[in-house]
Amino acid sequence: APIKVTKVCCIGAGYVGGPTCAVIALKCPHIQVTIVDLNQARVDAWNSPDFNLPIYEPGLVEVVKQARGRNLFFSTDVDKGIQEADLIFVSVNTPTKKSGVGAGFAADLNYVELATRRIAAVAHSSKIVVEKSTVPCRTAESMRTILEANSRSGCRFDILSNPEFLAEGTAIDDLFSPDRVLVGSLQTPEGLDACESLAEVYSNWVPKERILTVGLWSSELSKLAANAMLAQRISSINALSAICEATGANIDEVAHAIGFDSRIGPKFLRASVGFGGSCFQKDILNLVYLSESLHLPQVAAYWRQVVEMNEHQKSRFSKTVVDTLFNTITGKHIAVLGFAFKADTGDTRESPAISLVRDFLSERAYVTIYDPKVEDAQIWLDLVEACPNVPLVNIQKQVTIARSSLEACKDKEAIVIATEWKEFREIDWQTVYNNMNKPAFVFDGRMIVDAVALQKVGFKVKVIGRGDRS
Ligand code: UDX
Ligand code: UDX
Ligand code: ADP
Repeated sequence: APIKVTKVCCIGAGYVGGPTCAVIALKCPHIQVTIVDLNQARVDAWNSPDFNLPIYEPGLVEVVKQARGRNLFFSTDVDKGIQEADLIFVSVNTPTKKSGVGAGFAADLNYVELATRRIAAVAHSSKIVVEKSTVPCRTAESMRTILEANSRSGCRFDILSNPEFLAEGTAIDDLFSPDRVLVGSLQTPEGLDACESLAEVYSNWVPKERILTVGLWSSELSKLAANAMLAQRISSINALSAICEATGANIDEVAHAIGFDSRIGPKFLRASVGFGGSCFQKDILNLVYLSESLHLPQVAAYWRQVVEMNEHQKSRFSKTVVDTLFNTITGKHIAVLGFAFKADTGDTRESPAISLVRDFLSERAYVTIYDPKVEDAQIWLDLVEACPNVPLVNIQKQVTIARSSLEACKDKEAIVIATEWKEFREIDWQTVYNNMNKPAFVFDGRMIVDAVALQKVGFKVKVIGRGDRS
């Protein structure tokens, strides 16, 4: 029969594990939730008396304030967390491999494996082990083999797949009212019991009909598939934005028109300077690698094109900037507004802004960056990684970081909008214009400015997906 879960442990206090398990604690006061991580600084931040949490997510502080110390705990004592729990989420990082077989494509499963081995080594009672991290199809099988080969006798491990679909910036809303919760299990009596135990946890706040239970492999693949199809939508709309710029069609109007088709739907059709974030590219490359391993080269090529279109969109945008600024930006001053990969997050992983700044630097322009949430240290780290042959001191001769949009745009020739922060919609453009070198250009990579109003002020404006003929 299914066990009643009373103690949950989450291994990994990152972007996924932290918010997810904090919400479980909030919604299930009868369950003790312990989130463990090897990273002392991260755990300290989660425990900080003034709630200076390691990640920024609207509404997260309020959740942690209510649950922390009540039934939500953060700790570096991984072993104790494992031993006490009856259900363990594995929510560690699965970055793209940087070397070895599958480098640049395959997921690095080292962290998942180490966490799994730890569970096997220290557990002295049976556990339900839940894959929360996004993993390649059939990872659960490897986890099961490791657990069974290393565990004490009398301990049984049931493995579930429970991928997380939250998006950054809206994580708390997504967790409070998810479109669906997906739980995959083996279709054995024990597997189905474990599945029911986890479903019961979610049923404390998620309507029953939104809790989908499927086979283990379908669940693992669904996560990759969902992200691949979302990214594909953006690459499709971005491919159309290039046609719009060349013809005089307007991508906003096109997206609006096609989104009205109920089979297509209106969401996730915003053309942009390219998608970023820790998931889309990584998950597609994973799917590409999986397809190739399964000897399906045409399938691999199909998905790879989604990433290639995204690379093209980013470099096409940089090229528009150079072309428009009279074919050279050497020695020119450019303000880049926004560095996060999307609004309402301080996260910069795979942010298109990084590629843009790198391109501008290689053209020897001076760049001033402003982002309301990204830490300076993160910007330097990202630029050093993006420009491997340039020492930081040289990057810092070309790049400065500003404290406001107004400061960033002063004495510049051009402004590039890379992230759709709400505050960029409220910029006092007249003041900005007065302080700029002329002619003053605005390149909007996120379709947030009123181009006509800006032109009236005196700006030359280029918006993604809108040609000079529109
Ligand atoms: C994504 C998925 O949405 C989420 O379900 C999954 O769990 C993790 O990956 P996330 O990467 O946090 O979430 O953000 P998302 O809102 O999906 O945006 C990803 C990127 O696509 C951002 O750079 C965003 O600016 C871009 N985007 C999104 C567009 O360019 N146009 C759109 O219409 C939507
Ligand atoms: C299509 C468009 O739907 C319609 O809006 C446009 O005006 C003309 O082109 P049609 O070709 O008549 O209409 O049929 P549709 O129902 O779209 O199906 C096209 C093909 O896709 C069919 O072979 C259908 O079997 C296939 N299909 C459709 C699938 O394989 N899977 C699906 O989920 C849907
Ligand atoms: P995600 O976006 O998938 O949540 P993050 O990198 O934000 O990824 O978080 C993953 C967390 O997992 C990191 O804080 C890392 O320190 C932690 N972690 C990785 N391996 C282990 C492990 N074996 N035991 C405990 N924590 C781990």
